[in-house]
Amino acid sequence: MLTSKGFDLWADEYDKTVQLSEESNTYPFAGYKEILNVIFNESMQKPNSDILDIGFGTGVLTRKLYEQGHHIDGVDFSSNMIALAQPTMPDANLLEWDISKGLPPEILGRQYDSIISTYALHHLPDKEKAEFIAMLRPLLKDGGKILIGDIAFETREHLNKCRLDSIAYWDDDEFYFVHDEMRSLLKIPSEFYPISHCGGVFIIEK
Ligand SMILES: C[S@@+](CC[C@H](N)C(=O)[O-])C[C@H]1O[C@@H](n2cnc3c(N)ncnc32)[C@H](O)[C@@H]1O
Repeated sequence: MLTSKGFDLWADEYDKTVQLSEESNTYPFAGYKEILNVIFNESMQKPNSDILDIGFGTGVLTRKLYEQGHHIDGVDFSSNMIALAQPTMPDANLLEWDISKGLPPEILGRQYDSIISTYALHHLPDKEKAEFIAMLRPLLKDGGKILIGDIAFETREHLNKCRLDSIAYWDDDEFYFVHDEMRSLLKIPSEFYPISHCGGVFIIEK
């Protein structure tokens, strides 16, 4: 599992790594642009909304929402990722924080129209993911949504097939979403929209 220092070292090359994987339609980032687009379009349904981004990285998605006039809070534990993202959205409230410790105190009293997270939550084991998502839900305004785009599969069989097909690159230290398993852990309704052979979007409503 990558530590904050690992992400610090990856920060400058991150966008290029994603682009190569997305363009060749291979694990882990096949479908990346479409996944971000789905979340962008969902988040755009309300103008000037309040958005929280968990693990915003270099800010590829967050920045687009910021430029459209949304109010952005963000959490990421890599200071180098924050250093790349913050100058491109100077008024966004970007906090350095490790989500394995829960949520930062600064945002606990806040309410959001959308809580978004792309390619970040697979760093938490499944039980911690479910507990973390349960912590996010009270931060939603009425009608608000949690939108998660990540490496994700309908079933464990789909994951195992992708693992075999991508065995040279597969990262056994990460914890990818399996929808039918997450559904029982979450105990709240969630919709899953597969986008590529290894990625998709979860939508959880308040
Ligand atoms: C693969 S990048 C995804 C970045 C961006 N959301 C995207 O879609 O391109 C994962 C991001 O999550 C952050 N991250 C991973 N584990 C984290 C943790 N425990 N707490 C806070 N941020 C974390 C990393 O620093 C990194 O910026």
